[in-house]
Amino acid sequence: MEEVEREKLAKFSELGAGMNDDIILKVEGLTHRYGDFIALKDVSLEVGRGCLTALIGPNGAGKTTFYNVISGRFKPSEGRIFFDRREITGMEPYKLSAMGLSRSFQITNIFSDLTVLENVMVPIVLHQGKGFHLWSILENDVELKNEALKVLDMVGLSDVADRPARELAYGDKRLIEVGIVLASQPRLVLLDEPTAGMNPEETEQMIHLIRNLAQKLGTTFFLTEHDMKVVFSIAEYIYVLHQGQLLAKGTPEQIKENIKVREAYLGGTIDSGVA
Ligand SMILES: Nc1ncnc2c1ncn2[C@@H]1O[C@H](COP(=O)(O)OP(=O)(O)OP(=O)(O)O)[C@@H](O)[C@H]1O
Ligand SMILES: [Mg+2]
Repeated sequence: MEEVEREKLAKFSELGAGMNDDIILKVEGLTHRYGDFIALKDVSLEVGRGCLTALIGPNGAGKTTFYNVISGRFKPSEGRIFFDRREITGMEPYKLSAMGLSRSFQITNIFSDLTVLENVMVPIVLHQGKGFHLWSILENDVELKNEALKVLDMVGLSDVADRPARELAYGDKRLIEVGIVLASQPRLVLLDEPTAGMNPEETEQMIHLIRNLAQKLGTTFFLTEHDMKVVFSIAEYIYVLHQGQLLAKGTPEQIKENIKVREAYLGGTIDSGVA
């Protein structure tokens, strides 16, 4: 065996096979470049199974890029990603979703012309691999409707199931997004700023929902969030990105006290609440 191959295998067993069941996501040396610009530089982190984890950092820190790379939207320039002991580096989003890793988008991403219920039925059908008969299934499949209703119940939207999605308030549209993500029964959910653009009441509702879902379903949530009050009230563990590099990691208490984190936020546009 070539020396390089042997090294690769050794590296793999160190990372993948050595990954214990308490760790759902492991990222090793992740670097991402847009042309010459380095958006992520040598980021390594782990997410504990069932541990509500947050990724924070000032605007442009690389959070969305990180999620895009983890969820398969972009291939990393360097580094490796493991999900549930399997290497997933560079895998396509639909494959990852079928494996149990789903994400939501920072920009609202729902089907406005479909009803709320149909919005959740579509990903269930796709997850079951019945996409070819999508429209007849949406109209006729009672079991599917019940399954989608259960999802709507979880996100608190059963009452508006038959309304066109476009008619809903912004906060409720974002709840549909969470429903769409949950429809594929993921074990790990990446949420990129789930409360962006929400008023305080909607934010409160979203945080409450995420915390409940984490507890009830045992799903692991890994989210980004600008509002420090939200982060400190919800996260059990926090990673801080700054200019593409990991600046700090720890419990909310440790992050609050971290001088480097305070400095990174000073002069930024975020009212961090860190100070
Ligand atoms: N497609 C792209 N092409 C080139 N540069 C990009 C691209 N996407 C992001 N960038 C740059 O990469 C850096 C990180 O951007 P990213 O969107 O990942 O940050 P972020 O932490 O999510 O920021 P925000 O808090 O504003 O959402 C920024 O400097 C951004 O301008
Ligand atoms: Mg972003």
